[in-house]
Amino acid sequence: MQGSANLNIMMKAARKAGRSLVKDFREVENLQVSMKGAGDFVSKADLRAEEILKDELRGARPTYGWLGEEGGGEDGEDPTRRWIVDPLDGTTNFLHGLPHWAVSIALEHKGKVVAGVIYDPAKDEMFYAEKGEGAWLNDSNRLRVSGRRRMIECIFATGLPFGGRADLPETLKDLGRLLPTCAGVRRWGSAALDLAYVAAGRYDGFWERRLNPWDLAAGVVIVQEAGGLIEPLNREGDILGDGEVVCANEAMFEPFAKIIRG
Ligand code: IPD
Ligand code: CA
Ligand code: CA
Ligand code: CA
Repeated sequence: MQGSANLNIMMKAARKAGRSLVKDFREVENLQVSMKGAGDFVSKADLRAEEILKDELRGARPTYGWLGEEGGGEDGEDPTRRWIVDPLDGTTNFLHGLPHWAVSIALEHKGKVVAGVIYDPAKDEMFYAEKGEGAWLNDSNRLRVSGRRRMIECIFATGLPFGGRADLPETLKDLGRLLPTCAGVRRWGSAALDLAYVAAGRYDGFWERRLNPWDLAAGVVIVQEAGGLIEPLNREGDILGDGEVVCANEAMFEPFAKIIRG
């Protein structure tokens, strides 16, 4: 797809941060790591990647605001536009040498995500979408959510609460209701890639609680542009604000969301 100037800026930035992450991944045992909370890590690789993204994105669009996982938020001269960035989604995988993690970049305009890029450098897969322009993988593969129509054929992804998080009982209840009805549940450790994989039809749906805007923003527009339905877990809520999400292909959304919403 011939993307807009902003989309090209986002993809260039994702590739540059990706190169830095791949370099750090090769020598992951030597990385400086600290713990932000129980089981919640940040490494020199996350920080380096965020710095690169900030230089690239703010360098190209100095008036836009900024929200990054590690560095926090900054207002821009233009109050209507903001970059929302997770420099490394899947830090725990990364630190364990598991090649399943991604760079996630979204552009928000007037409170709505209008473009998203999720880049998996280990597999060289670039998932991207712009509002109204469809969702794509690499140069020319149009993304479409899966066509499955029976729960028993579907696999769903989620994130399991770690380190004593208070949402564990709810997620265990979800699993108790869901597992008997479907072909399986996966927990691969990157919410951004979970969403990209729903858009690509690899998973049939995804749900998770306690996420942050940077985990979700790019994935929301990619799933929507691939024909998926995505809603806040609490119907009246706000996906990015609440950090609780449920999504699936159109046929499976209602039965799946009903089970997850209890
Ligand atoms: C995490 C991943 C994980 C999800 C966690 C997130 P991070 O992001 O997306 O899949 O279950 O809740 O915090 O910290 O690796 O960027
Ligand atoms: Ca983190
Ligand atoms: Ca994340
Ligand atoms: Ca992160």
